[in-house]
Amino acid sequence: MADDTRIFHRGDYRPYPWLVDRVELDFHLDPRATEVTGRLHLRRRPDCPGEPLFLDGKQLELVAIRLDGTKLPAHRFRHDDEGLTIPDLPAQCVLETTVRIDPAANTALEGLYLSNGTFCTQCEAQGFRHITFFPDRPDVLSRFTTRIVADRKQWPVLLANGNPIRREELADGRHGVTWEDPFPKPCYLFALVAGDLAEIGDSFTTASGREVALRFYVEHHHRDKVGHAMQALKKAMRWDEERFGREYDLDIYMVVAVDDFNMGAMENKGLNVFNSKYVLARPDTATDADYQAIEEVIAHEYFHNWTGNRITCRDWFQLSLKEGLTVFRDQEFSADQVHRDVKRIEDVRLLRNSQFPEDAGPMAHPVQPDSYRQINNFYTMTVYHKGAEVISMVQTLLGTDGFRRGMDLYFTRHDGQAVTCDDFLACMAEAGGRDLAQFGRWYSQAGTPRLTANGRYEADSGRFILELRQSCPPTPGQPQKLPFHLPVRLALLDRAGRELPLRLEGDTAAPATERVLELREEKQTFVFINLPERPVLSLLRGFSAPVVLDCPFRDEDLAFLLAHDSDPFCRWDAGQTLATRTLLQLTDRFRSGDDPERVPLPVAALRQALLDERATPALRAQLLTPPGETYLAEQVDEVDPGAIHRARRFYLGRVAGALADDLRRLYRQLADTAPYRYAPEEASRRSLRNLCLTWLLLSGRPECQTLAEEQYHTADNMTDRLAALRALVDSASPAADALLADFHRRYRSEALVVDKWFALQAAAPGEATLERVATLAAHPDFKLKNPNRCRALFGTFAHANQAAFHRPDGAGYRLVAERVTELDRLNPQVAARLVSAFNRWRRMEPMRRELMRQQLEYLRAGCHSSDVLEIVDKALAAETKA
Ligand code: TRP
Ligand code: ZN
Repeated sequence: MADDTRIFHRGDYRPYPWLVDRVELDFHLDPRATEVTGRLHLRRRPDCPGEPLFLDGKQLELVAIRLDGTKLPAHRFRHDDEGLTIPDLPAQCVLETTVRIDPAANTALEGLYLSNGTFCTQCEAQGFRHITFFPDRPDVLSRFTTRIVADRKQWPVLLANGNPIRREELADGRHGVTWEDPFPKPCYLFALVAGDLAEIGDSFTTASGREVALRFYVEHHHRDKVGHAMQALKKAMRWDEERFGREYDLDIYMVVAVDDFNMGAMENKGLNVFNSKYVLARPDTATDADYQAIEEVIAHEYFHNWTGNRITCRDWFQLSLKEGLTVFRDQEFSADQVHRDVKRIEDVRLLRNSQFPEDAGPMAHPVQPDSYRQINNFYTMTVYHKGAEVISMVQTLLGTDGFRRGMDLYFTRHDGQAVTCDDFLACMAEAGGRDLAQFGRWYSQAGTPRLTANGRYEADSGRFILELRQSCPPTPGQPQKLPFHLPVRLALLDRAGRELPLRLEGDTAAPATERVLELREEKQTFVFINLPERPVLSLLRGFSAPVVLDCPFRDEDLAFLLAHDSDPFCRWDAGQTLATRTLLQLTDRFRSGDDPERVPLPVAALRQALLDERATPALRAQLLTPPGETYLAEQVDEVDPGAIHRARRFYLGRVAGALADDLRRLYRQLADTAPYRYAPEEASRRSLRNLCLTWLLLSGRPECQTLAEEQYHTADNMTDRLAALRALVDSASPAADALLADFHRRYRSEALVVDKWFALQAAAPGEATLERVATLAAHPDFKLKNPNRCRALFGTFAHANQAAFHRPDGAGYRLVAERVTELDRLNPQVAARLVSAFNRWRRMEPMRRELMRQQLEYLRAGCHSSDVLEIVDKALAAETKA
């Protein structure tokens, strides 16, 4: 693999000088030598005379090349590592190339590869160039016809995008199927699958009465695990009709599940390819969280059919055009399926735990990045999830109706085109009748803005004066930022927690009890009038903007908000702030060796939340769960992960101890009365019950261990069985090892459950986990080449076990760095995700900082792929100047 040091810039965009109206592909499948013929119907763009034709192509063995049916002599073209250049071509012609590729050797899982003997493709972002010569860029749209020929016995199912138009019986036991996709599409949406797979069918009738065949393809032994995904697909199809007026457009919708996949799933036109983790579910193999994730990812890929496929990206700098918007759509869909408030809290937790650190680290980039070395590294939390927050803010500013008008305009104006984030925003501005020019800075400026609020009540005039300020820290390449256009949803509460009428000075409209203030300057003051008493501020309701809120709330106000705020997000957030304050004090004590016992714990407020019958069980579980260790690490100047870990454990142990009687009573009350069923109400109940169990074990009462053992043995579902096992492992119970062995014995033939087995052990607290992870890497079931398995063991260890990864002797860093180096040769995309665990090294206390730096230097010397090198180089680059 070449060390590609080229950097691509957003400003360098040029339209492609050729149109590829049609392409006919012909695949002769063979694991070691597949032949691909591509026939491109080319037309020169009239405004680009004289420009040569360049086609991307990587690691392709060129077998033949013909122009308009005649062999092209060698002096007429140039073939190098990047592709094919042909200078003198007529304005219209048919170019045909035949190449040979080796799918069995493809461990990068990009292009055409094999997963358990099934051929499949992954072309986004730039995988198609590993299959055939083609302009591999999203703004070249063509009509694809695909003929697949393969051995009938080994690969009875042959699939590609669109509709099947011809079947062939051929000599030597081979057969062929030809597919035609009527919709012009960029090549990153191309897909091919060939395998011995079970087909599970159903159908969906669209709002306008068209019948669509739905087909899932899975390995035969999984055929009883598709029901949930199928229902999710139908719900998503209906939802997009109702909420956005979007119907499906082909006669067939196919989903294939494979075990080897770099990401979650892929929205190829009419033929989605999924990581099997986001399709397969049965009560005894999948948890409630898995069921929810499946629903969300199925919906996400389905929604791409309009936001991504019908309207696609002009270039990869516009990635958030489809990803941010589609995440926003899947979040809205999920919120309608489960408890909306809890879903919002989960989304914010993810944003704070993963996107905020990214936005504060060496890889910080705008939602619309300015440059990249490896585009695969920009499928990030920022592009996806901050991108979704940006869309959500547009909806807040325009209102639901205005937003819907904007979406309608976007769909009518740009259907069939490859466009930019600016094009999207222009539709929103036009349909919403709003100036969104300043708002556009959310796309161009990186970093998480800080919002500071100061409220002052004047008793004699009955006025509440709210001063809002914003700032944004520097990020790589962006030392200074301009103010954002920032929607701040708020309410003022009286002592009983009721929302007060909000009248701003000079207001004439009837006062609402909740409103959205728009902050556009660095500092603005808002004066609320007619307030008989000092109100409590309920600020940034529903997390109306992705900012860090810095608000000098007193602890009493936070406890009040936690108990009374009518906005569930703000309730939760007040609890998070309270817990954070306590946890940071505890962390200080553990670092300095002071007595942690003297730090007061918010037990009373948490008991009230735990027992609040008005709140759903899932919300109560969220209210009790303190911020994670990575979030806490972001709150201090110099990180000691060991101290943070001990502080959090101490907090959980003590709070759980104080609440033990309530936890035990609730645990019994919340017991299930019927067989397992995945439903929001049931999942909500289980989440609180399993929190009770976990906390009881953390409280250190040995008699509670039998509760967990009992639950492990009697559970009729994976949610409860895994929760019990995790609680035992996390509390270092003596029973844990025997049950881990039992768990492996029960599920050894279910790959996705074996992943859970690896992940559970990699996440176990305690420094000895490192030795356990090293041992597990030699387990016969461990496969470095399988991304799910690799992420389960090393991803979990590096990203979700701060105390063990950051072991003070540096052994965690060495273990991960060695594996990254090995993995870099097999699968650069997965290696790059793993190496990003080193990104926050500069924030560590001096000893760990130096140990991490050494490993980054080792990685820089030992790695080859542009994927890993981009991350490592950026991590090591000079710190941004404040
Ligand atoms: N577009 C896919 C999504 O729905 C992301 C994706 C799938 C992907 N496979 C990939 C991105 C491989 C890069 C490389 O979000
Ligand atoms: Zn997507």
